[in-house]
Amino acid sequence: MDRRRLVIDTDPGVDDAVAILLAFASPEVEVVALTAVAGNVGLDKTALNARRLADLVTEDVIVAAGCAEPLSEPVTEESVVHGRDGLGDLEWSEPRTPLDPRHATEVIYEAALEGPLTLVAIGPLTNLAVALERHPDLETLVERVVIMGGASFEGNVTPAAEFNIWVDPEAARRVFAASWPITLMPLDLTHQAYLVDEDLAEMRSWSTTVGERCAGMLEPYAAFHDEWYGNRDVIMHDAMCVYELVSPGAISLQGVRLAVEVTGEHARGATFIDRRRVHADSVQRVGVHVDNDIFRRFLLDRLRQLDAP
Ligand code: RIB
Ligand code: CA
Repeated sequence: MDRRRLVIDTDPGVDDAVAILLAFASPEVEVVALTAVAGNVGLDKTALNARRLADLVTEDVIVAAGCAEPLSEPVTEESVVHGRDGLGDLEWSEPRTPLDPRHATEVIYEAALEGPLTLVAIGPLTNLAVALERHPDLETLVERVVIMGGASFEGNVTPAAEFNIWVDPEAARRVFAASWPITLMPLDLTHQAYLVDEDLAEMRSWSTTVGERCAGMLEPYAAFHDEWYGNRDVIMHDAMCVYELVSPGAISLQGVRLAVEVTGEHARGATFIDRRRVHADSVQRVGVHVDNDIFRRFLLDRLRQLDAP
């Protein structure tokens, strides 16, 4: 079986971590590189966290740092949702995985030149937009872009905007305007997918490093969800992008037209997902529905097989 080559552009981030571990646990895909972008926390921390996650599962994945600031006017201080360090504030030893000296945009472009490539974008879209700017042929080289971002109805940072798009709506505009095929996983889909306390307990029962780290990272994330949403169901936003690639068909998709509001007192970062008619021929699709019980079992069965080298 030909494994789909991935570059995962990420702002780890606890749910990023689960998405990344699912990718490493899945024989259908090969993680060529993790490219870090500023988002949940600053670039120094997201790059360090990407190295920590690479250490958990393999010795030889490229980790590169990308953009520290959005193209749009910066609007956000570091999020506390994922802990001060962005990964649930656990103790970590010094990472073994080195930081590649190249900028993330160059790693993305060179990976695209080397063969068929899928981009998985689970943070603000700054790195992808800058990569397009520096290498305009990138949009013709990349097979597919799967993005966690946006919302059809209600945001999570403002009533209008989801975090990844809100941080850099100008980057999102440029990414949506490119000709590459996009599958967007917005909040109305991702809120259907969540882990519950019994899943965290199952992770601890594995007595593996990956299980212990996952349960540890998810604990403060569950506390945040309890405070905000009144229950400890931890939403697996970013994992939906990887789930789509390793279990095709598990998420129902629909052809749409995508647009984003770049500026606006109330509407900055709002995404407009046009479903008003059948866009069967569109290269832009949106995730619509996922069965959470099937997803949870799939995820846990895959993560259980992972352990640190
Ligand atoms: O709105 C959810 C998104 O914002 C996820 O990618 C999460 O990691 C945060 O970056
Ligand atoms: Ca993320």
